[in-house]
Amino acid sequence: MELDARQRAMLEEMGIRVWTPMASAPADETALAKSSLRPSDGSRARVAAPSSPVERPVRAPVPMAAPAVPVGVTAPRALPTDIAAMDWDDLEAVVAGCQACGLCKSRKNTVFGVGHRQARWLIVGEAPGENEDLQGEPFVGQAGKLLDNMLKALGLARGADDAARAVYIANVLKCRPPGNRNPAPEEVLQCEPYLRRQVALLQPRIILAMGRFAVQSLLQHSLPDVATMPLGRLRGQVHSYEGVPVVVSYHPAYLLRTPQDKAKAWDDLCLAQSLMFDAGTS
Ligand code: URA
Repeated sequence: MELDARQRAMLEEMGIRVWTPMASAPADETALAKSSLRPSDGSRARVAAPSSPVERPVRAPVPMAAPAVPVGVTAPRALPTDIAAMDWDDLEAVVAGCQACGLCKSRKNTVFGVGHRQARWLIVGEAPGENEDLQGEPFVGQAGKLLDNMLKALGLARGADDAARAVYIANVLKCRPPGNRNPAPEEVLQCEPYLRRQVALLQPRIILAMGRFAVQSLLQHSLPDVATMPLGRLRGQVHSYEGVPVVVSYHPAYLLRTPQDKAKAWDDLCLAQSLMFDAGTS
């Protein structure tokens, strides 16, 4: 991939040395992002879908039903049965009021997702942390700064308002697990219909699954053994979720702890971008 000066600078921010035939200096793996792409006015970088001029109908109460439960997982409480028919605003409202698992008791805010609702790129992370819980937006802490710089290196931005540069960022879980513990299997199961509907509404051209929980949630149906497979083995291939190509990569928080793997993450981004090029929509 041809890189311009700005993209090279962003890769330096990620701590990735761009090798050219002349380059020989070692990478500065400790460099962290210094800037994020939050809008300068401090507002949430969300681009709403065009709103309809017609008045929205009042939603009738719907019956509740529970999804299928894998053996060994506690049966989930009921979710609305019509999630698959919801539009963005209804879905966001249902998530905001969700009480389907115990995480609703400790959360300060639900974290629905952020970005352009017609973006070609969907980034899927794990779950909100403390900052995300406070601000109601995914990836706003240190890991988020790294993610923003990784996206910048590809010419993408969470606040972009043109679909070509835009991304949508969502998590597997919409509520923070207390103490930033790992998501429990039943929490992932409960939240799955929300992410599934977000994918159906967004219809992204590519999904970047960052970290083990995103990968497990998205690939569990196509790869039943995914929970036992090391993430490294799933990288470098094109997987599929609901017909959308999925590229697997490391979680930004892992990359902060393991900077020597940032170059591999860059390879993953390049693979994802090459799929966009192949589709004729970079
Ligand atoms: N880690 C995630 O996976 N998601 C966030 O929103 C923040 C940190």
